[in-house]
Amino acid sequence: MRVSRWLPTAVLAFIYAPPATWARNYSTHDYYAVHISPGASPEQLAEHLNLRYEGPLGQLDDHYLLRADRAEDDHVQTAIEDLRRRRRKREAGAELPHLLDHVLLSQKQDLRKRFPLHKRGVVPPRQDPPVDAMVQKGKEVAASLGINDPIFQDQWHLYNHVQPGHDINVTGVWAQGITGKNSTVCIVDDGLDMDSDDLRGNYFAAGSYDFNDHVADPKPRLSDDHHGTRCAGEIAAVRNDVCGVGVAYDGKVSGARILSGAISDVDEAIAMNYAFQENLIYSCSWGPPDDGQSMEEPGILIRRAMVTGIQQGRGGLGSVYVFAIGNGAANDDNCNFDGYTNSIYSVSVGGIDRKGLHPYYSEKCSAQLVVTYSSGSGDAIHTTDVGRDKCYTNHGGTSAAGPLVAGIYALAMEVNPHLTWRDIQYLTVLTAVKIDQPSDWAMNKALGREFSHQYGYGKADAYALVELAKNWTNVKPQAWFYSPWLHVKHPIPQGDQGLASSFDVSADMLRKANLERLEHVTVTMNIQHTRRGDLSVELRSPSGMVSHIATHRRNDAASAGYVDWTFMSVAHWGESGVGSWTVVVKDTNVNEHNGTFTDWKLKLWGESIDAASQGLLPMPTEHDDDDHDDMHIPSVGTTSVAVPTETGMPEGNPDDHQHRPVNSKLPVVSATATPIATATPPSTGNGDDKDKPESTEPPTPTATSSSTPSPDHLLPHIFPTFGVTKKTQLWIYGSATLILIFLCALGGYFLHVRRKRRRWMTAGRGDDYGFEMVGGEEDDDHDGGGGGAVNGNGNGRVGRGGKAGRLYDAFAPAGAEDSDREEEDAFGLGSEEEDEGEGEGGDGGERGGVGGDRYRDA
Ligand SMILES: *[C@@H]1O[C@H](CO)[C@@H](O)[C@H](O)[C@H]1NC(C)=O
Ligand SMILES: *[C@@H]1O[C@H](CO)[C@@H](O)[C@H](O)[C@H]1NC(C)=O
Ligand SMILES: *[C@@H]1O[C@H](CO)[C@@H](O)[C@H](O)[C@H]1NC(C)=O
Ligand SMILES: *[C@@H]1O[C@H](CO)[C@@H](O)[C@H](O)[C@H]1NC(C)=O
Ligand SMILES: *[C@@H]1O[C@H](CO)[C@@H](O)[C@H](O)[C@H]1NC(C)=O
Repeated sequence: MRVSRWLPTAVLAFIYAPPATWARNYSTHDYYAVHISPGASPEQLAEHLNLRYEGPLGQLDDHYLLRADRAEDDHVQTAIEDLRRRRRKREAGAELPHLLDHVLLSQKQDLRKRFPLHKRGVVPPRQDPPVDAMVQKGKEVAASLGINDPIFQDQWHLYNHVQPGHDINVTGVWAQGITGKNSTVCIVDDGLDMDSDDLRGNYFAAGSYDFNDHVADPKPRLSDDHHGTRCAGEIAAVRNDVCGVGVAYDGKVSGARILSGAISDVDEAIAMNYAFQENLIYSCSWGPPDDGQSMEEPGILIRRAMVTGIQQGRGGLGSVYVFAIGNGAANDDNCNFDGYTNSIYSVSVGGIDRKGLHPYYSEKCSAQLVVTYSSGSGDAIHTTDVGRDKCYTNHGGTSAAGPLVAGIYALAMEVNPHLTWRDIQYLTVLTAVKIDQPSDWAMNKALGREFSHQYGYGKADAYALVELAKNWTNVKPQAWFYSPWLHVKHPIPQGDQGLASSFDVSADMLRKANLERLEHVTVTMNIQHTRRGDLSVELRSPSGMVSHIATHRRNDAASAGYVDWTFMSVAHWGESGVGSWTVVVKDTNVNEHNGTFTDWKLKLWGESIDAASQGLLPMPTEHDDDDHDDMHIPSVGTTSVAVPTETGMPEGNPDDHQHRPVNSKLPVVSATATPIATATPPSTGNGDDKDKPESTEPPTPTATSSSTPSPDHLLPHIFPTFGVTKKTQLWIYGSATLILIFLCALGGYFLHVRRKRRRWMTAGRGDDYGFEMVGGEEDDDHDGGGGGAVNGNGNGRVGRGGKAGRLYDAFAPAGAEDSDREEEDAFGLGSEEEDEGEGEGGDGGERGGVGGDRYRDA
């Protein structure tokens, strides 16, 4: 599976050699990332837009890079808006399918708009470590392993002869000859010094690239480009006579240099998948600022790259992303406000110091899986530095912790190359050793292991992890369950009281979602608040386990609240998920700043029941987590959610339980202070909802009703009865049908005429419109498939799926109905009328596209 076993390095270097067009220069050129329909031609699109086609965008399917001279204007956006305007004005020819209709996503790369990425090193106060008689024993261990590296005795994290037991317990692994052979870790950082005598022997050039300077070797070039080299040394410093050794000292390291300057989303996305059949593990010791005020997540291209990595990297076993959790604990920062560390695709690693104590910098959060050693208690990590034989004694922060865990994974992959990205997380959870320090340890009864927000499941133990890896049976593929959006729309009381909202998950829902047991749990939520840092949020599982998914942050004065933010917890690992899940939102600072809990959505992720029937998660879109403000349409973003298609509702009508009053089992919540009114929007529409007037409208009959005819209904419930008899309904619907048929015929005629005229007008104009011509009218039918799927999906929200729909589709840009809604609402390619029309059908259309292979993004 891994190419390198059979191919010489020269061939590999050729395979991975970046094309010449990678020599990007952001000061002279603009770069556009575009995602287009499968089969559409990026070259033709580029030509049409007068842009230069630069090639595929890394490993992302159907994503490409286009280039233009530097300008203020966004050429793609402008062209799309222009087409939209012409369609609105019904200009001749504008209604025809167009190349631009195939653009599902376009993003002009803007280095200035990106939040900067920060290295996670801290310089600890330096004290001389105590020397002890056990040094002699350390020397014996080294001798038995043939380690003559001069600073090995200082590498207490590998063998601690001063505080016995406070190391990663790796010497017993090495003693078995397990040293990282055949494993490659990519250091995504500020480069690594491949000319260092301590790294040269393990450097993997073919998996390396400099994304800052766009040259092949990620050599440190700036005066402070030391960080990546130090991290690389922790993982794969060679066993020789220079400095110390790495955890996997016979493993390989490569480098992706991204931190030595502003980076575009495109380049970061490519870096996260670079050589992803060879680079098994990506070690990332950086992230958004740890100032306790930032709340940043990777952009859509980077999120897609990570999903592509876990689905296609390592021959489909999945790239392993290891992230340092962040050093902002002293600023009240919490890694759940960092979209890299709280991703289910990353292993988040926090720090402990050489005495096993919690260092002041290491953040807490419910997404933290594990901790390992780093700076504090007067010492730090001793490793390799930039220079031919330079060593460093002061490497610290969670930056230094992450790479140690990446190195342990390199050892585990040597003994078992078939571990998936999720197996790696299981091994980590199941072998972490509880830290013997007071913390908020709580028993996860499903695992029989304790979890703390400060230490995750404890500290990584290389020996235990590698032993468990040896005979590990792969877990079954990942399955997931999404709740509907749960609308609360209630002011948050100030003080110690909280505002609670619950959702009951039934065994049947999870069975239908093919979900056997949990791994990650995510909660996406919207809260309006005039001071974000005053908020905190707990998630209580059916078993009573509590995740503090958001915590108070004293520096965070943003008035943004939480906007579609996804928090993550690993504290519920192994639970069944069945029962009542409750979020409790608190505003503990009694002050002039207050807010409203708008809504939330629960997502359960875990192991599938039936491996054979489980598909892969569709690529994320920019609008996955948007609140469609429609509680009656469960957000069926995927095919495996337990939403019965007949009713369009989850089991046990969510109205019955999703906003029930706080019950007395929640001692922290005062029942009187949290009179969450009963479920439906009308009942909460008592004046508190001025900011969301739509909530006072009664639910549309189409949304809540089932599609089976009832005594008063001539047709399924999606068609209103108008309160009249069946006979009258027959008359109304009969007339409507006739009118539709007439309109359809008329429309077809106009279309035909216009198309003919257009063909005539564009005849001989070469390829300009060659694109749209493929398939002609049949193409329209195909595009209409979006509408068909809408009907088939059973939400029954689209009354225009039939002939009228077809007519409508014919005038709409191809794919506008689903693809545009899907991720490009901003583009609004349709005319204004279309937009209105979509208002009803939009959600259904969006989901209708899910099943189709054409729009795999939904
Ligand atoms: C590593 O790869 C080599 C071939 O390149 C193979 O002979 C060896 O068995 C592999 N080692 C392990 C531990 O998989
Ligand atoms: C980008 O182009 C400018 C102007 O030609 C030049 O000064 C600069 O050195 C170039 N940068 C890179 C990285 O090639
Ligand atoms: C470390 O590894 C040894 C085997 O070398 C094992 O017996 C022991 O339990 C592990 N843990 C600790 C804390 O030493
Ligand atoms: C793995 O399985 C083999 C055979 O089933 C057994 O001999 C060996 O002891 C097991 N190793 C571990 C570490 O459990
Ligand atoms: C917030 O406080 C102001 C007055 O200070 C009040 O008018 C407003 O209704 C409050 N909003 C919420 C959501 O409690």
